[in-house]
This record gives sequence, structure tokens and C-alpha cells, in this order.
Amino acid sequence: MTGQSGLFVSFEGIDGSGKSTQARLLADALRAAGHEVVLTREPGGSDGAEEIRALVLQGDPDRWSAETELLLFTAARRDHLERLIAPALDAGKIVICDRFADSTRVYQGQSRGDLSTKVDALHQLMIGREPDVTVLIDMDPEKGLSRAKGRQGVEERFEDFGLPLQRAMRDAFLALAQKAPDRFVVIDGDAAPEVVAQRVLDAVRPALP
Ligand code: TYD
Repeated sequence: MTGQSGLFVSFEGIDGSGKSTQARLLADALRAAGHEVVLTREPGGSDGAEEIRALVLQGDPDRWSAETELLLFTAARRDHLERLIAPALDAGKIVICDRFADSTRVYQGQSRGDLSTKVDALHQLMIGREPDVTVLIDMDPEKGLSRAKGRQGVEERFEDFGLPLQRAMRDAFLALAQKAPDRFVVIDGDAAPEVVAQRVLDAVRPALP
């Protein structure tokens, strides 16, 4: 599980930040430039992890305790890493992942009380790897929320918990970025998608194989 030859890029941001669109646009641009790209997402990205996704994001939001939810997200990540991410990196591919461990640090670590010690311990024990580059699409939560609410679906998301929590989650992402400046690039997401996409490409380009 120590694939080093490819490039591992994650996208992070609050719900409605536009990070999923940007992950896709980066994948398109890199493929057009001749790179082999695997575009994937969390929770999910492998068969087992997609099953866990349904368990954590659908049904009664109080179904799991905060600790159980943390275990489920980590189980999904472990499966995704074993089955998809590590093999692709070992094969020299670029892996673009819509959310990774920073989402757990922010959402499970800080949204329902402070679980950050458990989050960090479990990450070290069971995941033990960080992306090479993490693109944080930064967005004003009020704008993010109105965008995210425009979507319908069966999945429960943190956007459903409202603006104050979204603000706290944004601050938590920005704090993580400050703590790991070598890995993070913070991109202002408040512009037309193609403008943001160009900012992302410029930021990722120096890391390309
Ligand atoms: P996602 O599909 O990225 O939602 P969106 O496209 O709306 O941003 O993620 C679904 C939800 O899962 C989102 O509210 C964040 C949450 N999540 C966690 O709480 N912990 C995690 O580790 C991950 C990967 C996601």
C-alpha cells in the first residue's frame, strides 16, 4: 500500500463548493494532455465502499453514533485505498479523489464534538497515507449552501445541518490547510467554473509526473 510512482490528488471543500465539478474538469484536462487518470470519490469509489456510502449517507441521520460513523468512513476508505487507489498509483496513474481523509478530520473530527484524537489515531493505524496534493476549493458557506440545496437526492449531507456548521467546517478546512502548506493548495471557488478550473490546473501542474 505504498504506491509512490503516480500522483495522488484530493479535492476538499464544504458541500456546494463546486469541488466535484472541479475534480471532473481537472481529470478531463489531464486526460486531454495524455495522462492516465482515475477519477474517484469518497465515501465510495470501490464496490464495498459504495455499499458503506449508502449506510452512512442514507436513512435516519441518528442511526450511528459519531464513533460508529467514524469507523464506517474509515472502513470505506481502507477498502477504497486497497482496491483502487494504491493499485492505480503503483501503476503510475494520476488518482483524483473527490474528498479523502481531510473530510473525516473536519466532519467526523469536529462536527459532533471533538473526536480529532480518535480520527488521527485511526487514520494512522488504518490509512497511513496522505494525498500528494490536496486542492481545497474555498467557498463562502452562504453561497455554497444555496448551491448545494438546489440538488435533490436521498443522501443526507452536512449541508442539511445549516449555515453555522458550514461556517465551522470551512474554518476547519482552512486550518488544516495552514497546518500542511506543502500538501494543500487553497483555491478561491467563487468564480465561473472554467476560471476556477484554470486556477486548479495552474496549482497542480508543478506536481505532475
Ligand atoms: P459528497 O458526496 O462529497 O457530497 P457533496 O458532493 O455534497 O460535497 O460527500 C457526502 C457527504 O459525506 C458530505 O456531507 C461530507 C460527508 N463525508 C464525511 O462526513 N466524512 C468523510 O470522510 C467523507 C469522505 C465525506
